[in-house]
Amino acid sequence: MLAPRPFGSTGRTVCPAGFGAWAIGGTWGEVSEADAVAALNEALDRGVDFIDTADVYGDGRSERIIAQVLATRSGPRPFVATKAGRRITPHLAENYTRATLEAHIDRSRANLRMDCLDLVQLHCPPSPVYDSARVFDAMTAIRDAGKIAHFGVSVERIAEAQQAIRHPGVISVQIIYNLFRQRPADAFFAQAAASGIAVIARVPLASGLLTGKMTADSTFAADDHRSFNRNGEAFDKGETFSGVPYDVALQAVDALRPLVPQGASMAAFALRWILMQQGVTVVIPGSKSPAQSSGNAAVLSLPLLSDDTMQAARDIYTRLIAPHVHHLW
Ligand SMILES: NC(=O)c1ccc[n+]([C@@H]2O[C@H](COP(=O)([O-])OP(=O)(O)OC[C@H]3O[C@@H](n4cnc5c(N)ncnc54)[C@H](OP(=O)(O)O)[C@@H]3O)[C@@H](O)[C@H]2O)c1
Repeated sequence: MLAPRPFGSTGRTVCPAGFGAWAIGGTWGEVSEADAVAALNEALDRGVDFIDTADVYGDGRSERIIAQVLATRSGPRPFVATKAGRRITPHLAENYTRATLEAHIDRSRANLRMDCLDLVQLHCPPSPVYDSARVFDAMTAIRDAGKIAHFGVSVERIAEAQQAIRHPGVISVQIIYNLFRQRPADAFFAQAAASGIAVIARVPLASGLLTGKMTADSTFAADDHRSFNRNGEAFDKGETFSGVPYDVALQAVDALRPLVPQGASMAAFALRWILMQQGVTVVIPGSKSPAQSSGNAAVLSLPLLSDDTMQAARDIYTRLIAPHVHHLW
């Protein structure tokens, strides 16, 4: 089993395989409440103890389902990371005030049924926020008021991560890192480790592509972002299929198939590739069903990947994927 990893400076360790709770909130087609509850319970049964959510996932549905599930379970409570900022309207840096952030955090506290939230991440805020001591001072004040234990950031770009960790109090950075987004390992993880910053790797399966199940004929529901955000129509295009053109991604997935260890799924392989990086604290695959949760938790028992496999994965990235993404984020 993969060992727990220290979560930055919190003094806590977490299982390196976490649970991404966006899809059980919304924007991924229909996920019934029963499936959402079962998916999360399965992950927790498999040893997952880190959950990532946000106030906007299903406008609070994800947070409320997490609270509902946790209320039925005994034992140590998992670490729950939520996010704030995307409910600010209009979504401008100047509207990131203490009063607004605190009101949104209060709603998350109610949704999650927690007096003090474990971690609140600024949710891909407008770029000027990263330069704003005022915003980070507001988060510090909310922390000092006892409403949150810690705060961090979820970023689109490496440069934003580097700016954010200069602010005192920031304990974690969430960033896209997967077989199709390799640059954070080159340009950020060493700096994060040196600063004691926890790194949360999101979109680890490139929105499902890296499970190997998708084809040119795959279709998605109208309310699934994989239908409506491929070119960034609603939010950063990197959040959908990691910003890789779909046909290119399918080609790269085919090139990766021979690297999957015998007996393993491509999803577990893709997650194991991420956890080869000690610079990653926790990876947070989204899952919509118990089968997906157990498939993703299988990463915990996969052995190290060989140097040859790692090099081959890098070569595929360099040849097919990097020209589309490396310079953008
Ligand atoms: N800005 C931000 O801060 C931000 C943005 C994006 C994500 N996140 C966080 O990161 C988490 C993970 O990213 P993500 O959910 O966008 O993408 P992801 O983890 O790369 O992909 C998740 C999707 O892949 C499919 N899937 C998952 N496990 C599978 C398995 N074992 N077998 C087959 N299919 C599987 C499911 O969709 P289908 O079954 O429908 O294919 C699932 O919804 C989110 O849940 C969220 O917590 C944060």
